[in-house]
Amino acid sequence: MQVTREPVALSRATRLLNHGPVTIVTSAHGGRTNVMAASWAMPLDFDPPKVVVVVDSHTQTRRLIGASGVFGLQLPSRAFASQTLAVGTHSGVDLDKFSTFGLETFPAQNIDVPMMSGCIAWLECKVIPDDSQRLDLIIGEVVAAYADTRVYSNNRWHFGDDPDLRTCHYVAGGSFFETGAAFEVTAATSGEAA
Ligand SMILES: Cc1cc2nc3c(=O)[nH]c(=O)nc-3n(C[C@H](O)[C@H](O)[C@H](O)COP(=O)(O)O)c2cc1C
Repeated sequence: MQVTREPVALSRATRLLNHGPVTIVTSAHGGRTNVMAASWAMPLDFDPPKVVVVVDSHTQTRRLIGASGVFGLQLPSRAFASQTLAVGTHSGVDLDKFSTFGLETFPAQNIDVPMMSGCIAWLECKVIPDDSQRLDLIIGEVVAAYADTRVYSNNRWHFGDDPDLRTCHYVAGGSFFETGAAFEVTAATSGEAA
């Protein structure tokens, strides 16, 4: 099959990978709390479990995490996409985003950070100090994790018919995908053409 490959400007190349599940990062220090959206989050290691999140050095979130050494990482559902966009387009420097956008939280189990209601999975993380922070990366060791049993159990996601309970994936400018249909395959054998 003839495939036409559209050139992608290097300044937009990250968009090709943007649509991993968007996350929400919560933070707290010295009586202040904050929340922001982060698309650039991924697993890093199995044991102890670690994640990496890109948190721009100019953000209020970055300042609070830098001071406290802990953060909450959560996966919003599609129903929470509008709030996700709101916390990703306003700075918490002079704004309490929780009260402004009517966001509910609950206490974390192992860290002193509010965790977001309205999400479907939550990871509590402690920062692992590392040189990579020069690159705006934050590496976190996961010290607690839990997920909504309506869509996650026995170590598997099982998204059902309710689109509002699917993870969402950010593109840009307010555009998201929702996670699509699940399917199963067996591994291709050596003789099969791709
Ligand atoms: C859907 C979405 C995803 C985003 N992903 C990231 C990201 O991965 N890393 C980042 O530094 N900023 C990201 N941003 C921008 C921050 O959320 C934004 O700068 C926010 O206002 C920072 O808030 P704060 O200054 O209160 O911490 C994203 C914004 C949106 C809307």
